[in-house]
Amino acid sequence: IINMSDLDLQGKRVLIREDLNVPVSNGVVTSDARLRASLPTIELALAKGAAVMVMSHLGRPTEGEYNSEFSMQPVVDYLAKALSCPVRLATDYLDGVEVAVGEVVVFENVRFNKGEKKNDEALSKKMAALCDVYVMDAFGTAHRAEASTNGVGLHAPIACAGPLLAQELEALGKALDNPARPLVAIVGGSKVSTKLTVLESLSGIVDQLVVGGGIANTFIAAAGHNVGKSLYEADLIDEAKRLVANAQSRGGDIPVPTDVVVAGEFSPTAAATLKAVNEVGDSDMIFDIGPDSAEALAKIIESAGTIVWNGPVGVFEFDQFGEGTKRIAQAIADSKAFSIAGGGDTLAAVDKYDIADKVSYISTGGGAFLEFLEGKELPAVAMLKQRGA
Ligand code: 3PG
Repeated sequence: IINMSDLDLQGKRVLIREDLNVPVSNGVVTSDARLRASLPTIELALAKGAAVMVMSHLGRPTEGEYNSEFSMQPVVDYLAKALSCPVRLATDYLDGVEVAVGEVVVFENVRFNKGEKKNDEALSKKMAALCDVYVMDAFGTAHRAEASTNGVGLHAPIACAGPLLAQELEALGKALDNPARPLVAIVGGSKVSTKLTVLESLSGIVDQLVVGGGIANTFIAAAGHNVGKSLYEADLIDEAKRLVANAQSRGGDIPVPTDVVVAGEFSPTAAATLKAVNEVGDSDMIFDIGPDSAEALAKIIESAGTIVWNGPVGVFEFDQFGEGTKRIAQAIADSKAFSIAGGGDTLAAVDKYDIADKVSYISTGGGAFLEFLEGKELPAVAMLKQRGA
């Protein structure tokens, strides 16, 4: 892979694909983590003397039409404040765009272009014709083979990885390809079905796999316990048993909580009751792991050489069901291991428990982070490898 940091960009037209897909409310960006992560790349291109164009998608608009709800304008407003150079929005750019050295032109949402999502070749070629160098820096969208993340790179004179993408790949590689052992992965979230391939892939490489949230409920049921009215997937019980057997055959395990926090309803004011896992009643819903289980998991985390965290272990949005996730977050924060966290809910937990500066690396990827954990090659990375060969 060619790296942007190694290239001479003086006077070059540089088109950077970032993942600036951030939540916007009333025209204002409400979480700027991805924007902050992209700034160093844009600043480096400017410092290298480039004429900089930046593009991204935002949300999932109907393709092929303008929709002000999904405009990049709020992102442009943010960048204009964060960067010390002129920043402007270009709504029509496919047939050519004026851009000077020292300024940043941000393209309107790439998903307003017909053919973006299906990686249309004619669209890709139009984008490629706008630049001398295409920089793929959008790790968060690297799992999508779309015109702005893949096709454009095949046709641009030069296609390279931006520093953020390179940094993400390095951190994930460090955690998964040659990790300091024991390697502990914590996979929470609501459903086994959405993370089955992640669990399968991780159970083959980690020393200890910890499951939490609704995912754990299916494992609790697989261990023969009543889960009452909890969210779980009956049709995946055999799959869960197979994953446990697989982990155990490698000398590891997928431990099931010994105590859980239950309630009779899903609501912010629901009363939390602590129960042993074998005492869950027919009308109970499991919303968190109990303190004994959290302590046991904290011990596992304490002894880890590498920690991969994706997904909370309880309904942490409600404080009474957040203690398990809080304890895990603290254990990760206290650990000397190389730790990496990724995925939307995970980052919300990292923020809520204020451990962002104690995690070794926080990924900007949601779906892309998961696909990396699944061991899949990301299409944008495959393209960069092809172009760098
Ligand atoms: C994300 O937020 O995961 C990325 O920006 C990709 O967005 P998408 O799932 O709409 O392709």
